[in-house]
Amino acid sequence: MIRLGVLISGRGSNLEAIAAAIERGELEARIEVVISNRAEAAGLEHARRRGIPAVVLPSRGLDRETYDQMLLDELAKWRVDLICLAGYMRLLSASFIRAYPMRILNIHPSLLPAFPGLDAQHQALAYGVKFSGCTVHFVDENIDSGPIVLQAVVPVLDQDTVESLSARILAEEHRIYARAIAIVGSGKYRLEGRRVIFEPDPAQNNPG
Ligand code: GRF
Repeated sequence: MIRLGVLISGRGSNLEAIAAAIERGELEARIEVVISNRAEAAGLEHARRRGIPAVVLPSRGLDRETYDQMLLDELAKWRVDLICLAGYMRLLSASFIRAYPMRILNIHPSLLPAFPGLDAQHQALAYGVKFSGCTVHFVDENIDSGPIVLQAVVPVLDQDTVESLSARILAEEHRIYARAIAIVGSGKYRLEGRRVIFEPDPAQNNPG
């Protein structure tokens, strides 16, 4: 059983998707705690409705090191194995990342390394790509840059707006995040350089 800590800042639809996958028995994990740096995050309500402990740790006005130490202290109480960033809108400090080496995942709404940072769907539309998608990756000390666990691709249609493209990508986010957690939580992968190689049978775990 993987003990998860989920960090959010807002809507929390990925949190919902992870919780739903656990409920359906597709992911052997338990969300020990949801932590939001914003009291108004809608995702807190999703968590409470499901009986998941939901903690607000307001970040406003705190420097990164101070805040991240508070986060580390809170997470330690819940003894989580894996941290999932799900729309968590703050950068993590190097000391936080070092406390959970290869144990922090993020989901990003583009096919990394294209369009890191904010407004990835807008960036994709403005650039004119014909395909975009989403990426679950390990978090390292740079922005949206750690080794990639899973990706999913969606087409960009001529009539797309940021909203319609975001919705198409979000459906894929909800599908792949739980799968990526299952892979990482099982420990059945190895790193070759930046490449995350699934074990023992890569064919069985292939994204698709
Ligand atoms: C998602 O698009 C995710 O890829 C990005 O932030 C958004 C969070 O949405 N990192 P939600 O809060 O999970 O609904």
